[in-house]
Amino acid sequence: MTSPHAALIRALPKTELHLHIEGTLEPELMFDLASRNGLSLPYADVASLRAAYAFDNLQSFLDLYYAGASVLVTEQDFYDLTWAYLLRAQADHIVHTEIFFDPQTHTERGIAFETVITGIRRALDDARRQLGISSRLIMSFLRHMSEAAGFQTLEQAKPFLSQIDGVGLDSSEQGHPPSKFQRLFAACRALGLPRVAHAGEEGPPAYVWEALELLDVCRIDHGVRSAEDAALMAWLAEHRMPLTVCPYSNVKLKVFQRLSDHNLRALLAAGLCVTLNSDDPAYFGGYLQDNYLGCDAALNLTRDELLQLTRNGFEASWLDAADKAHWQAEIDRIAGQQG
Ligand code: ADE
Ligand code: ZN
Repeated sequence: MTSPHAALIRALPKTELHLHIEGTLEPELMFDLASRNGLSLPYADVASLRAAYAFDNLQSFLDLYYAGASVLVTEQDFYDLTWAYLLRAQADHIVHTEIFFDPQTHTERGIAFETVITGIRRALDDARRQLGISSRLIMSFLRHMSEAAGFQTLEQAKPFLSQIDGVGLDSSEQGHPPSKFQRLFAACRALGLPRVAHAGEEGPPAYVWEALELLDVCRIDHGVRSAEDAALMAWLAEHRMPLTVCPYSNVKLKVFQRLSDHNLRALLAAGLCVTLNSDDPAYFGGYLQDNYLGCDAALNLTRDELLQLTRNGFEASWLDAADKAHWQAEIDRIAGQQG
């Protein structure tokens, strides 16, 4: 299938607002880091590792994703991981990215919080200067872990708060509702940290309501199951509450069977502030531009819908008003040129 708007998609400046940096660990780099750190992987080679990327649901992916992240040991490893993503982002004409990191995935293995954040931050700072890509860094709590573990992580983060732009909530959704982290998110709010949460990926619309009402989030990550609740859809549309939707992820994790089944267009048609993102591109078979091109082809997106998705990304971002206005004007300019 080809994308009728491929030239426009490639030319547009884009944001990425839902990207787990650990989910950008390509098999080749995983093997390189394993050998650099004297670790062995339970796969003979890159091809057999890639062959294992056939998932039944979120949990089957997470098991592999956490195992893969164990090759990340030194600050340079975190730098190299992040830099590789940023180069890929530049190729996709991403001009602004807001990335998640999962500190507990690493501190649980005895890696210092400082090692993780310093490596990631240094790459983001270099990207600002060398690639012209602006960014925000979101510390995400693992919801399969306890509230106490979350508070411990927040304590570890305190010396680095000036380097953290917000907090998120990810990992196994079913059985770990947002309410479990109400007090932790209240503490983050008291520290002035903006909040987002994964909700309505596999979990029910009730989890989206909880994220909004109990965690006071300013974006919902995924949120595709909101479509099952008409009152929720109306609320999301009325408040222009952004959803960071990740179509390739949803198909790989069997939230939708095929890309052509995805409800992206219905969410847009209902007036929601839907954005397009790649989630864990090294595992899901495509980066941001692949998500745009794939959806264009599979869902027959209109030119206006594509422009709206791109605009929504800037609207939903944490850029300041002047930067948002600059990029919206740039979208107007490109749209005019691409007639
Ligand atoms: N961690 C990394 N990717 C995730 C996803 N799609 N859902 C929940 N947790 C995640
Ligand atoms: Zn995610």
